[in-house]
Amino acid sequence: MAKLTYHGHATCSLVTDDGTVLVFDPFFDDNPACTVRADQVEADYILVSHGHGDHFSDCIPLARRTDATVIGTFELVSFCREKGVKNGHGMNIGGAHVFPFGRVKLTPALHTGSVDGDTEGTHTTNCVGFLVEFGGKRFYHAGDTALIMDFHLLQGQVDVALLPIGDNFTMGPDDAVRAIEMIEPKVVIPIHYNTWPVIAQDPQAFKAKVGGRARVEILPPGSSYDF
Ligand code: NI
Ligand code: MN
Repeated sequence: MAKLTYHGHATCSLVTDDGTVLVFDPFFDDNPACTVRADQVEADYILVSHGHGDHFSDCIPLARRTDATVIGTFELVSFCREKGVKNGHGMNIGGAHVFPFGRVKLTPALHTGSVDGDTEGTHTTNCVGFLVEFGGKRFYHAGDTALIMDFHLLQGQVDVALLPIGDNFTMGPDDAVRAIEMIEPKVVIPIHYNTWPVIAQDPQAFKAKVGGRARVEILPPGSSYDF
C-alpha cells in the first residue's frame, strides 16, 4: 500500500510500498493551508516542479536537514547544490530515471519560471510535472500548468493524478476536466486551490463536473489517501 498525504496547495508526501518517502513541492511554513511545519517532515527524496516560492520555499532547508535527494530540472538542482544541498539528481523534460524506489519521468508543464532566492537570475527554469511509477502503480503530479495538448501523451499511463484546479495561476476546473478527458486517470486529486482567495474553488462542484470521467478524491490538508 502507498500512502499519499496532502499538505495543502501543491505540497504532498508520498510513502511508496517499500517505505520510501517522497515529498513533492515543499511549501510548509508559509503555506496558509498547511497543518505541519517543515521541521516535522521527513523525506528521502524531494521532487520540485519549479522554483516559485509556493513550491520551493522549504526545499533547501528540508534537504539540508534530512539529506534527501532533490529531483528536478538540472538548473534547479544545481541551485540547490550551490546552497549546500548534498544530494541532488538533475533531469530534464521528457527524461526518465530509475531510482531505487521506482521510475520518475519529468513531464511538460506550461507555466512561467523563476527560482525563489536566486539573486543572479541564472537559474530560471521551466515548470515540470512528475510521472512516478513504483510497485506497478502510476502516480502523476502535474505541477503548475495550463491545459496542454501534451496531456494526450499521458493517456492511459496514470492511475492517480494530482491536477491543479485553482485557476488564475494554473488551469481552472473546466480545463482540469478537459485534462482528465485526455489523460483518463482512474483517480483525480485536485490541488493548488483555496490556499488564498485568488484561487478559491469549490472542490465538490469540480467533482460534480468531472462526473463519471474519473473518481475524484477531495483531500482536506493533512488527510491521506491510500492506494
Ligand atoms: Ni508557479
Ligand atoms: Mn504555484
